[in-house]
Amino acid sequence: MKKATKVMALAAAMVMLAGTLTACGGSGKGGKITFGTNAEFPPFEFVASQGVIDQYDGIDMAIAKNIAEQNGMTAAIENMEFDSLLVALQNGQIDAVIAGMTATDERRETVDFSTTYYTATQVMIVKEDSDIATAADMADKKICVIQGYTGEICVQDMGYPYEAFKKGTEAVMELVNGKCDVVVIDSATAQKYVSDNEGLKIVEDASAFESEEYAIAVQKGNTELLEKINKSIEGMLADGTINELAVKYTEAVSEE
Ligand code: ARG
Repeated sequence: MKKATKVMALAAAMVMLAGTLTACGGSGKGGKITFGTNAEFPPFEFVASQGVIDQYDGIDMAIAKNIAEQNGMTAAIENMEFDSLLVALQNGQIDAVIAGMTATDERRETVDFSTTYYTATQVMIVKEDSDIATAADMADKKICVIQGYTGEICVQDMGYPYEAFKKGTEAVMELVNGKCDVVVIDSATAQKYVSDNEGLKIVEDASAFESEEYAIAVQKGNTELLEKINKSIEGMLADGTINELAVKYTEAVSEE
């Protein structure tokens, strides 16, 4: 009798364990993928009264939600400073980073990146009457960048002095108020700021700024999660979902 109970308990435990394994696929935490982001980067991620994941809305947030759902999991967002994202990923505080993040060689040294889901480039936001026409014209101007963004690295590499701000909106306010001459930032986000503020325009310089590929970061060696993410991204690229999201959020944010 005693022995039978033990056997049954063991069998029940094994059934439960098997259930857990199939339900979670052994990855994510309890069927949840926690994505880290910095929700200061429209149209990819921003805080709204009602977003696709809690108060978080944007192209990336919709992509994150789809990735989780397509794998039978739920998506959670941890909003933090852009600079903290890769450290939080390495610490295991988050499972992945989705933040309009450019897959650079330097970042590849510490994390693994997914398939590219969006291609962008750095551009210059200037006042409508500005005489800046190329990146070289920034030489004697007051330049604003956002701390830790690839735009900062570009300006640094060009050897120009600059001032770094925590948020894109802060840098754009400096420009609007005439305290700086040019903001270097990613193209789609620049479009959003220009449509939200009077008197600004975008200047492109394809010979000075390379194209940048946005990808999702996971911990080095986390191939199980990376494969899930890649499969979802490839599906969303093939069926036009990502294109539709890009169109939707570019229009939606410029109407605000
Ligand atoms: N693409 C740029 C980079 O990787 C800027 C990304 C900023 N993203 C954000 N969510 N604040 O550095």
